[in-house]
Amino acid sequence: MNASPPSVLEPFRIKSVEPIRLVPPARRREALRAADHNVFRLRADDVFIDLLTDSGTGAMSAAQWGAMLQGDESYAGSRSFERFRDAVRDLTGFEHVIPTHQGRAAERILFQVAVGLGDVVPNNTHFDTTRANLEAFGATPRDLPAAEARRPALAHPFKGNMDLAALERLLAAEGERVPLVLVTVTNNSGGGQPVSLENLRGVRALCDRYRKPLFLDACRFAENAWLIREREPGQGERAPKAIAGEMFALADGCFVSAKKDGLANIGGFLALHDDAWAERASELLILAEGFPTYGGLAGYDLEAIATGLEEVVQEDYLRHRIDSIAAFAARIADAGVPIVEPPGGHAVYVDARALLPHVPPLAYPGIALVNALYEESGVRACEIGTAMFGLQPDGGERPAPLDLVRLAVPRRVYTQAHLDYAADAVAAVAARREELHGYRIVSASRRLRLFTARFAPLAAAEREACEGREGRGDAYAGEPARALEDCLV
Ligand SMILES: Cc1ncc(COP(=O)(O)O)c(C=O)c1O
Repeated sequence: MNASPPSVLEPFRIKSVEPIRLVPPARRREALRAADHNVFRLRADDVFIDLLTDSGTGAMSAAQWGAMLQGDESYAGSRSFERFRDAVRDLTGFEHVIPTHQGRAAERILFQVAVGLGDVVPNNTHFDTTRANLEAFGATPRDLPAAEARRPALAHPFKGNMDLAALERLLAAEGERVPLVLVTVTNNSGGGQPVSLENLRGVRALCDRYRKPLFLDACRFAENAWLIREREPGQGERAPKAIAGEMFALADGCFVSAKKDGLANIGGFLALHDDAWAERASELLILAEGFPTYGGLAGYDLEAIATGLEEVVQEDYLRHRIDSIAAFAARIADAGVPIVEPPGGHAVYVDARALLPHVPPLAYPGIALVNALYEESGVRACEIGTAMFGLQPDGGERPAPLDLVRLAVPRRVYTQAHLDYAADAVAAVAARREELHGYRIVSASRRLRLFTARFAPLAAAEREACEGREGRGDAYAGEPARALEDCLV
């Protein structure tokens, strides 16, 4: 037998199990109807395999659960905080470590310290909470992704990169309005596309030239480090932790949601070098989150994250994580289903508009696919397209640049057999694509409407009217309503 096991073989055994149940097809249809055809409104017990998000949905290890029992819940000076602080320092090299209840709290505190009215903040692509927090302080988030990110089928190794020429233009023209530069690793675009070390060095050089601090939005830092190891020349022999260390060393600070590569179900932190900013951030922490030695977290959460940060950079964990996503993507693509290439670190994106060209964007092909997939198999995915982003500030609607369906993979939760099942379900739905039809929105809130919207399937007459019309999906291909990357939260 071969000495090394296949890399998609899970590098863990299962000590504790949670039963999942595939409810019968009639129940799935009824559950979807009762949820107004919006899978965000489903009861999780009616879901068999949940690929809605990779955030906070991972499984903790025996070591993490063991560490949690050691949690020190002292209000001040907790031993668990010291362990957490040392783990973050060891990984990132940043002196000041500020624990928060999740990533968005860390962003908010940083922006309150550093960003003012009228400022412009560049990023490869802002995550939606980052964007919203900047806007809340009167600043303008500016997305500057590399051109390759805009082409879903293009297999470029570092689609998460920042467009350095665009960054330089911004700094030269409006530098006095830029308080800091952000880079998101991995970039959420297309399911966790990595940023190369070369690109990060380029950003650093520009920040030095224009004297700007550089912060990483680093919630998927370990997946980024592994993809650098796999794809960047000269990196193949390095330990993921050393690569991650080099990424952090190029920055002045970072904010992190520990719900991803912290391998925890809740938590986050801000870490930075600057003494004055850290002092101000600690004051704000006390106002909004808690005392600096626990922030928004319990002592046991700090223990879980400290252990998670040690585990997430282990080679066998990362090899399995990335290879298992690649195998999942390959099984879907091999069935002839169009996906965003190459698969990144945490999800596979199906191009619903390309798969369902008879469903116009304003009839939400992504919703049609998500709902058909749930009915087919009990697998829950997430629409990332016109239902999520089509609503315009004036109340009108425009097609998003792409209509995608994201299959996000929780960490250490599902086996490859589960992912094979989900991939085969996507293929089965794709095989009867002509039977899928669009939806209309019955009611929705004006903000983040996908979370709460109520949908109804289009009636036959409505379908005929819209499917025959000029508004076919492919007719919108060249008409970006917002930047493509905004569709890839
Ligand atoms: C790139 C990125 N930044 C920030 C956040 C916000 O983190 P949290 O959900 O912990 O507030 C997320 C969450 O998904 C994210 O993906």
